[in-house]
Amino acid sequence: MLTVRHVMVAASLAALALVGPAAAADNPIVIKFSHVVASDTPKGKAADKFKELAEKYTDGKVKVEVYPNSTLYKDKEELEALQLGAVQMLAPSNSKFGPIGIREFEVFDLPYILPDLKTLRKVTDGPLGARLLKLLDAKGMTGLAYWDNGFKQMTANKKLVAPADYKGLKFRIQSSKVLEAQFRALGAIPQVMAFSDVYQALQTGVVDGQENTWSNIYTQKMHEVQKYATVTNHGYIGYVVVVNKKFWDGLPPDIRAACEKAMKEATDFGNSQSAKENDDALEEIKKAGKTEIVTLTPEQDEAMRKAMMPVYKDVASRVGQPLIDEFLKETGRSPMN
Ligand code: LMR
Repeated sequence: MLTVRHVMVAASLAALALVGPAAAADNPIVIKFSHVVASDTPKGKAADKFKELAEKYTDGKVKVEVYPNSTLYKDKEELEALQLGAVQMLAPSNSKFGPIGIREFEVFDLPYILPDLKTLRKVTDGPLGARLLKLLDAKGMTGLAYWDNGFKQMTANKKLVAPADYKGLKFRIQSSKVLEAQFRALGAIPQVMAFSDVYQALQTGVVDGQENTWSNIYTQKMHEVQKYATVTNHGYIGYVVVVNKKFWDGLPPDIRAACEKAMKEATDFGNSQSAKENDDALEEIKKAGKTEIVTLTPEQDEAMRKAMMPVYKDVASRVGQPLIDEFLKETGRSPMN
């Protein structure tokens, strides 16, 4: 929740915004970029790259302050803070837009909807991706780019091989109804929780398991408190880079153009190495030797896919069946293979 202090900061920033942003190196326009993951992750590195390039292309007239690891705001607060103008830029995962009234990004959460990153690009770089970004305007945000993390794996203190293994276990989820339906389909108990609280919740047994990318598992040290990690690649985590719309529209056009160029290059940079970041994190987890990495046979993989297929029906009314159909048409794939 936002405190009175947050609101007061937002109000004074809003008052400053009325004066209009100055654009000189000795009085730079500040872009506060808040995010919840470690710097040494696909999102962390892309954010740092954006900082480097935006400052370079504007000759220091823009200063980007990156606040990683939930040091400024946690998941839900950061979206509220952006809407209030207390921060200017974020990159929340697709799964986190539901609570502010945009449910459509949850389509990316559907189990097995994306076989690989190449297929993902068909959606994000195509007309559907552009249309989804436009939905953000109504919430006072401009969607600038799609950033990758990668594919999710399941972790727990119990070995997870078959759907029945999930029964009755509590799993931390992001704030997405699709993810809630996914764990319910497995007979598990989903629990929404901020990313910054996951490690402790796993350590103290508040939840039994969670799903995340290798990079997030490793950089949050989740593998130190989870005995098993199953290679499922059952879902995708990616981000929508959003900026406060009023702030963005109010930027001098040359400054905005320079920031757009920086964003485009930071996106290409981040997305070109996200897969390697996750591969490297998996290697580090293996090296740490605290977690058994479980791989599924093709039959076990198929059983997991089958168990999760009811999710498509369960969430059709929330996400929109036409949107699900359009997504599947663009990928040209079925979630069953
Ligand atoms: C999560 O909450 O698990 C992730 O969305 C965190 C992130 O930003 O990668």
